[in-house]
Amino acid sequence: MDTRTVDLYSQQSGEGFPLVLLHGFPLDHTIWQLVLPALQGKARLILPDLRGHGRSPAPEGVYPMRQMAEDVAALLDSLNIERVALVGHSMGGYISLAFAEAYPERLAGLALVASHSAADAPERRQGRYNTAEEVRLHGLEGMAEGMSQKLTRHPGLAAELRERILKADPTGVIGALKGMAERPEMGWLLSTIAVPVMIIAGGQDSLLTPAQVAADEARLKRGKTVWIPEAGHMPMMEAPSQTAAALAALVDMLQTD
Ligand code: MLT
Repeated sequence: MDTRTVDLYSQQSGEGFPLVLLHGFPLDHTIWQLVLPALQGKARLILPDLRGHGRSPAPEGVYPMRQMAEDVAALLDSLNIERVALVGHSMGGYISLAFAEAYPERLAGLALVASHSAADAPERRQGRYNTAEEVRLHGLEGMAEGMSQKLTRHPGLAAELRERILKADPTGVIGALKGMAERPEMGWLLSTIAVPVMIIAGGQDSLLTPAQVAADEARLKRGKTVWIPEAGHMPMMEAPSQTAAALAALVDMLQTD
């Protein structure tokens, strides 16, 4: 494995305890824009583009979740930030769990947004390899169409997300797909996390089952699940005020820590 970190692009705003928001696959930091106004007065917001996504470098090869977490740690080092609360959307949640495993002393709180701790079932894993091969041979069109339909039931938002996915770097998409395919099961880790954990889940999410959410909720030592019934896989865009309120509640839990 290539163990070199890459320098991540990030957008920063706000003041307070550092809250790092990690986007999901195959998107970028701009997915969080609608929740920022409600959080800027409460926290220092750091929004990276993950390796292979947005304005960050897209090296060739597989992107293990641990490697992507190390990129985030290197970004924090460059900002002289030691401890943070992490908010991870979907793949960003997988990376947050890898960060929690590698750097437990750096984690002050965690939110899993439309995310979970399980590894892929064999058919899902194979599906990712198939998609990676399709992207390599034919580009992003097919994946952008299929993925955008799964992310949300709102036709306007699905069309917008499709356009965003089409702008992704195919090398980054392939690296992230293979990295997600090989990620390990992390339920054991979730049940060891002593800092507050918030699970934010959409009732219409076609990529996450209520059983997966319930299994993770049962693992929490300190924390809770916030269900947003009308949201799908993109609660920060589909229901920004409820999502921001849940994240603000997490920040309040940190302050009373
Ligand atoms: C994401 O939104 O990051 C992906 O749907 C995650 C996944 O495919 O497991």
